[in-house]
Amino acid sequence: MSKTKIKSTHARRVWDSRGRPTVEVEITLRYGAKGSAIAPSGASVGTGEAVELRDGGDAFGGFGVDAAIEAVNGEIASAVRGRDVTGQEALDKLLIELDGTADKSRLGANALIATSLAAARAAAFSQRLALWQYLRQADGETGTPVMPLPEIQIFGGGAHAGRRVDIQDFMVIAIGADSYAQALDWTAGVYRAATRLMEDSGLLQGVADEGGLWPAFDNNEDALDMLTRAIEAAGFAPGRDMAISLDVAASEFGCKGKYKLARDGKELDSDGLSGLLVDWIERYPIVAVEDPLAEGDKEGMVRFTWAVGKRVQVIGDDFLVTSAERIRKAARDGACNAALIKPNQAGTLSETRAAMKAAAKAGFGTIVSARSGESEDTAIVHLAVGWGAGQLKVGSITRGERTAKWNEGLRIAEALGGPGDGDGPLPPASSFPWGR
Ligand code: PGA
Ligand code: ZN
Repeated sequence: MSKTKIKSTHARRVWDSRGRPTVEVEITLRYGAKGSAIAPSGASVGTGEAVELRDGGDAFGGFGVDAAIEAVNGEIASAVRGRDVTGQEALDKLLIELDGTADKSRLGANALIATSLAAARAAAFSQRLALWQYLRQADGETGTPVMPLPEIQIFGGGAHAGRRVDIQDFMVIAIGADSYAQALDWTAGVYRAATRLMEDSGLLQGVADEGGLWPAFDNNEDALDMLTRAIEAAGFAPGRDMAISLDVAASEFGCKGKYKLARDGKELDSDGLSGLLVDWIERYPIVAVEDPLAEGDKEGMVRFTWAVGKRVQVIGDDFLVTSAERIRKAARDGACNAALIKPNQAGTLSETRAAMKAAAKAGFGTIVSARSGESEDTAIVHLAVGWGAGQLKVGSITRGERTAKWNEGLRIAEALGGPGDGDGPLPPASSFPWGR
């Protein structure tokens, strides 16, 4: 059908939430349907990720994207002209082959993911469907859709907050909430309580990259104490209504065998860091830990998963980099039990989908995730609902690039109905380790 064929592809330079340039791609189909998407960008980047193309040099601190934009407006636009956007896999294969490198560094993962997502959006537009509906239709999915359970940052740290504390994300999950909307309501309450507690202790300094409170703590445990107190102060039972989730992002402060917790003045080996985290899990209401050990520390990941994997989600981010192959291997090794899913780590929508499928097949939890450098683009919320991800992680409940996503979720929730009136049904508690 020619109405789903690409007429033109145009890239422009726009801004991300860190004040850095990024790539927006707009695809127009022959009968005028359009789709656009903006590439996000990480700060704590896994070495196995698809590589974004940056100009280097002096302009924009080296973060310019002129080459990536040129790649879209030149080579990519010519290659995809006339292609059918409803054939996502064939289109993505073409992009991968055109780039020709294993890590997508020639044309840039930023150029490729924005093109790939823009094509999906144009396809959805041409069928008069929301992206999440289109993705379900494309998959032949007929089951009842649910909303992902939000995982929301309260304190930022690590590479997102000048390394003020070592741990990158201190988040909460409303494990007792009945609906998507209620999970957001509860989390906003915890955020307000945490803000008040920080103010009262003279610790409030602003917000970090993803909108979480700037962590002016003396050590990592103070953040855990404060977060537990904030849950209580907001009127929730820690571990029953609201629980804690950590993104340790351990590759940022260590590599295999040697981890330097600057805040705590400790240098630990793999078992030492694992032991510290297990101790925290026993003393605080922690239900999920992401990248507890560095991306190359497979043995450590296996030991940690063996120790706590039955009751806690052990999530691979830098460790899995949204790669179906790595997820299958991790499942064989028992090195995690959940996968973070970031489209720009994979570089195309089809590869992201393959990672989701591999994770689901392995019985892994799936958490669709934004990056620390984001925009108003909300595509990932649609991926989470359309593909049936269990969870969604987009940073805190402040800053426009974050609320753009949570709010898009509220619109989708309304369409789905659910508890209350359009608050959005959540996956059954039994699908999470803490609910079993
Ligand atoms: P990043 O952080 O986007 O800076 O990689 C997000 C994460 O580590 O989950
Ligand atoms: Zn992470």
